[in-house]
Amino acid sequence: MSATIIDGKAISVDIKNEAKNEALELKKRGIEPCLAVVLVGDNSASRVYVNNKKKACEYCEIKSLSYELPEDTTEEELLSLIDELNASDNVNGILVQLPLPKHIDESKVILKISPEKDVDCFHPYNVGAIFTGGEGFKPCTPAGVIELIKRSGCEIAGKNCVVIGRSNIVGKPVAMLLMAENGTVTICHSGTKNMSEICRNADIIVVATGKINTLTKDMVKEGAVVIDVGINRNDEGKLCGDVDFFNVKEVAGFITPVPGGVGPMTIAMLMKNCVTATKMQNGIK
Ligand code: GUN
Repeated sequence: MSATIIDGKAISVDIKNEAKNEALELKKRGIEPCLAVVLVGDNSASRVYVNNKKKACEYCEIKSLSYELPEDTTEEELLSLIDELNASDNVNGILVQLPLPKHIDESKVILKISPEKDVDCFHPYNVGAIFTGGEGFKPCTPAGVIELIKRSGCEIAGKNCVVIGRSNIVGKPVAMLLMAENGTVTICHSGTKNMSEICRNADIIVVATGKINTLTKDMVKEGAVVIDVGINRNDEGKLCGDVDFFNVKEVAGFITPVPGGVGPMTIAMLMKNCVTATKMQNGIK
C-alpha cells in the first residue's frame, strides 16, 4: 500500500480562503487588516519570499505596505522605522524579512517589534507563549505542520510523535505544538544514538534537519504520518526534502511531498496571523 500524499497546496488555499473570509468580515465593520513587509538589501531569495507574501495578502484582501530599504540602511534607521510601524494604528502586522545584512543585529530588531504585531511569532514574548500554551500567534511553519496533520484527518492526541531536528524556528516549536495537542513527543537530533528505533515506534514523524535522506524507509512504521519540512536540492539540482520520499511513501500512511507539502503552508499561516492580529488589536474574539 502506498501512502496518501498530503496536498499542502490545496490545504494552504483552504486556509487562505478562511483568512480572506475573515478579512472581508472585518472590512464590513470598517476594519482593514494591514501587514507591513520590510525588506533590507538585495537578497534574491528574500525578494521572492517577500513578493509571494505580498501576493498572498492581495489574495486574502489584506492590505500590504512595502518597505524596501537599501543594503546600507543602519540599524538605527531600521529600528526607528519599526517604532513608527509599532505606533501606527493602521498597521496590524509587521514582518521584517530575515536574514538582515550583517551589520544589523537581528535579535535587536526582533525585540523591537511590538509582540501584538509580531505575525512571524519571532519575539521572545510570543515564543514564550508557545511554551505556556497561551492564546495568540503561532509560528507560521510549525503551525502549518499541525494544520497539515489535522486537516488530513489524523489525530495527534495520544500518538507517539517524533520530531527530528531541534532548531528554534521549526524543531522546538513543532514539538511544543504537538504536545499542546496531547501528543507524546520525542525530539531527536544529531546527538541521538538510537534514532531508527525511536522513529520505528512513531505514529507521527516530523523531519526538519535540512539534510537529504534523514528519514529512510527502514525507520518508518507501517501507516505512520510523515511530514517533511526540509527544502534541499539533490545532485541533479531538483528540489527535495529531508525524507527519502520515493521509498518512505511505500510504508507510510500519509506523507507530504517537497515541493507542495509544508512550503505553501507558511504563508497561509502568516495570513491567518495577520487576521488574528487585527482582531486582537480591535478587541474582537
Ligand atoms: N526568512 C526565511 N523565512 C522567513 C520567515 O518566515 N519570516 C521572516 N521574517 N523571514 C524569513
